[in-house]
Amino acid sequence: MTTSSILENYSLKTLNTFGVDARCRYYIEIHQPQDLKKFLLNGSKSYPQKLILGGGSNMLFSSDYPGIVIHIKTKGIEILSEDDNYAYVKASSGEVWHDFVLWCLDQNLGGIENLSLIPGCVGAAPIQNIGAYGVELKDVFTELEAMDLEDGSRRIFTYDECRFAYRDSIFKGEEKNHYAIISITLRLNKQHVLNTSYGAIEEELSRMGVKSPGIRDISNAVINIRKSKLPDPAEIGNAGSFFKNPEIAESYFEELKAKHPEIVAYKTSTGMIKIAAGWLIEKCGWKGIRSGQVGMHAKQALVLVNYGGASGEELIMHADKVIESVHEKFGILLEKEVNVI
Ligand code: FAD
Ligand code: EPU
Repeated sequence: MTTSSILENYSLKTLNTFGVDARCRYYIEIHQPQDLKKFLLNGSKSYPQKLILGGGSNMLFSSDYPGIVIHIKTKGIEILSEDDNYAYVKASSGEVWHDFVLWCLDQNLGGIENLSLIPGCVGAAPIQNIGAYGVELKDVFTELEAMDLEDGSRRIFTYDECRFAYRDSIFKGEEKNHYAIISITLRLNKQHVLNTSYGAIEEELSRMGVKSPGIRDISNAVINIRKSKLPDPAEIGNAGSFFKNPEIAESYFEELKAKHPEIVAYKTSTGMIKIAAGWLIEKCGWKGIRSGQVGMHAKQALVLVNYGGASGEELIMHADKVIESVHEKFGILLEKEVNVI
């Protein structure tokens, strides 16, 4: 398909990892940033509702999408500059995130090995400041280039301007749906600093028999851990953690701990207590329980799954029941991590 062809009534079933059979009114693929600009300047006014799509691994279509889906497929990775310690690497938004991680490992550049095997594309990584196993995108991020969806103008967002937080950025708040991210630039390490703070990594390295790990060992350990508990969207529809891990005040945490001494929680840098939502959901009895075509995964209760054929509405209804029961039992309101469209 050429970038100029706009398709109508297009199926999104294979373009979202929940495998929800939704359609969009219009659909366009973008292979070059200038083609997006051309589209935005000529005639995009006929499409007031626009949705940027990457790998579709963090969205849930509640129904058909009435506007135009702009599927970003731009490619390219380059080292912008380097010194003895760092390389500044720019990657285009349509690159598959895990392929980018592997490319960096091949260049012997460290910093994102803990983020191995996260599904999706590079351009979505800043949206929720992807994170896993003790590392977040913000730890290596320097800047990104974005295109204003109103007029096609380009803008650089610096680290500070992105306002990164846990599973959050300005692109989920004030600037939601205003920009297409074109590329991101990361500062990666030539002198590797390994992060094995997440207990499961040390355990996996020792199971693998690795005594002095390098960045590739960390990547392999993370891949093994992820494969052992997260469902593969190619086999069972899901979008990873459906909810965020909630943060509560220490005083409330003490109350909960008195009632549930085994509660799983971590202190954050801001002094709040982050509770493992998977634990809360499991304690409410949802883990591995299937209701029709939906359920919470048997190995990770935080993952909402589509066993096949569930609609977006059915998945949302199930998520709402989980929210209600966690609220009733623990007085904590879970917030959705996945973008409901
Ligand atoms: P999409 O789902 O296509 O889009 C997500 C959001 O970003 C949408 O709002 C979309 O409009 C917007 N968007 C996408 N691309 C652009 C762009 N170029 N410009 C502007 N807006 C854009 N996430 C984690 O953080 N950590 C994990 O460990 C993790 N594990 C996962 C495991 C599984 C099995 C799955 C299925 C998902 C997991 N996720 C995880 C969630 C998901 O992989 C990430 O959020 C990922 O960054 C989404 O990328 P995507 O390209 O699929 O985004
Ligand atoms: N737990 C349970 N029952 C469960 C699941 C978890 O009791 O069913 C408890 C266990 O004690 C476990 C702890 O929760 O040790 C933490 O579980 P896990 O290591 O699987 O991490 P998580 O907090 O559930 C978060 C992210 C994941 C990320 C992992 C690893 C969120 C919302 N989720 O999950 O991100 O991969 O940590 O860092 O922060 C995603 O965003 O889609 C995602 C998968």
